[in-house]
Amino acid sequence: MTKHLLLGQTLGFSGNPLLGDWSEAVDFDSAGGVLIEAGRIIATGSGEALRAVHPDAQVTDYGDGLISAGFVDAHMHYPQTGMIASWGKQLIDWLNTYTFPEEARFGDQAHADDVAARTLDLAVAHGTTTLTSFCTIHPESVDAFFSAASARNMAVIAGKTCMDRNAPETLRDTAQSAYDRSKALLEKWHGVGRASYAITPRFSPTSTPDQLSALGALWAEHPECLMQTHLSEQMPEIAWVKELFPQARDYLDTYEKFGLLGERGLYGHAIHLEEREIARLAEVGAAVVHCPTSNTFIGSGLFDLMGLARSQLSIGLATDTGGGSSFSMLRTMAAAYEIGQLRGVALHPAQLMWLATEGAAQALKMSGEIGRLGQGAAADITVLDLHSTPAIAQRAGRAKDIWDAVFPTIMMGDDRAIREVWIAGKPQRG
Ligand code: GUN
Ligand code: ZN
Repeated sequence: MTKHLLLGQTLGFSGNPLLGDWSEAVDFDSAGGVLIEAGRIIATGSGEALRAVHPDAQVTDYGDGLISAGFVDAHMHYPQTGMIASWGKQLIDWLNTYTFPEEARFGDQAHADDVAARTLDLAVAHGTTTLTSFCTIHPESVDAFFSAASARNMAVIAGKTCMDRNAPETLRDTAQSAYDRSKALLEKWHGVGRASYAITPRFSPTSTPDQLSALGALWAEHPECLMQTHLSEQMPEIAWVKELFPQARDYLDTYEKFGLLGERGLYGHAIHLEEREIARLAEVGAAVVHCPTSNTFIGSGLFDLMGLARSQLSIGLATDTGGGSSFSMLRTMAAAYEIGQLRGVALHPAQLMWLATEGAAQALKMSGEIGRLGQGAAADITVLDLHSTPAIAQRAGRAKDIWDAVFPTIMMGDDRAIREVWIAGKPQRG
């Protein structure tokens, strides 16, 4: 079996840099190495030392390129790829005007296949090696996504989006058909290759109590699966949830009541949370997902990253394509930085890189498998060129340390900053 040794500047993490002193959580080596065999990272350390011990390994020297775990996108909607950057609407109008008509097209297998392939290619071009996606109501959309990911050997999480009210007729299922079809897709795809199935009620306004309850029952039968949904994204949405569920204590309660709150729950946005919601999410070990480009683009609000991290919530980072305005996790980190600044917090580049890799993997309960530049993890790796444009290069050229060199790429970088992407031990650009 061929061994590959990647040389360059290596960045990994040994702890959570959001809590305590970030510098104690960082593993950085300016002349590091990553040894890969059979799709896994089998060692990391000094490049020279690894080379001496493994003279048989095929060497790729990235010079001062930054070798990181591949980026992990913890919440997105691949069917919305074609309508990213649609103008002028906030959440509910945006869903009705742009999103639902777009999603109505995914009963067509060829269309779903085309958009799934395009989305995964765009993700990889931007250094993202794992996507967590909502599909549409159509089983075809789920088959398309998992098939395209399997062809690329990518670890992905996805599920059939379920809606049985407040959506166009063609996008509605029922409590029973949502249960039956989700179950069939789960049994077809979960654990096949690198695929994981996530039970996916879109959000409380588009599911009746019966449907939420049916999906809660399915989750109870399959506690090994993740459950993904949306929570407290925009104020009018929250007011609408109060009207639809007058008995509920808060938005989270509309999930909790129906068995849809748990450790493997992933709650997208979670911007306007009440104290009880934060306490319950922390208590059960659930994760919330920060979608910063979406939160500014759709006008949702300023996610309280540090407050929620201190409350012991697991936090993933995500593009939320196409509510989010970029396929790039670099741009997503930049938006997280900007939102932090608006809340009076300057997130350190180490914290941003952690959120886009290990933090997101922890939120997905896949820590150790993805998002980590360390022994035993899948060899899903992104190599960054820290001088990818003239504007970035002139700034990085005067950097006084690695963080000063990485930060311009986080703030100004895009797909041009992605020098190479390895997926399960295979380079994607050659
Ligand atoms: N809430 C319910 N559905 C969606 C969606 O598709 N995108 C976003 N951003 N929020 C949602
Ligand atoms: Zn979303």
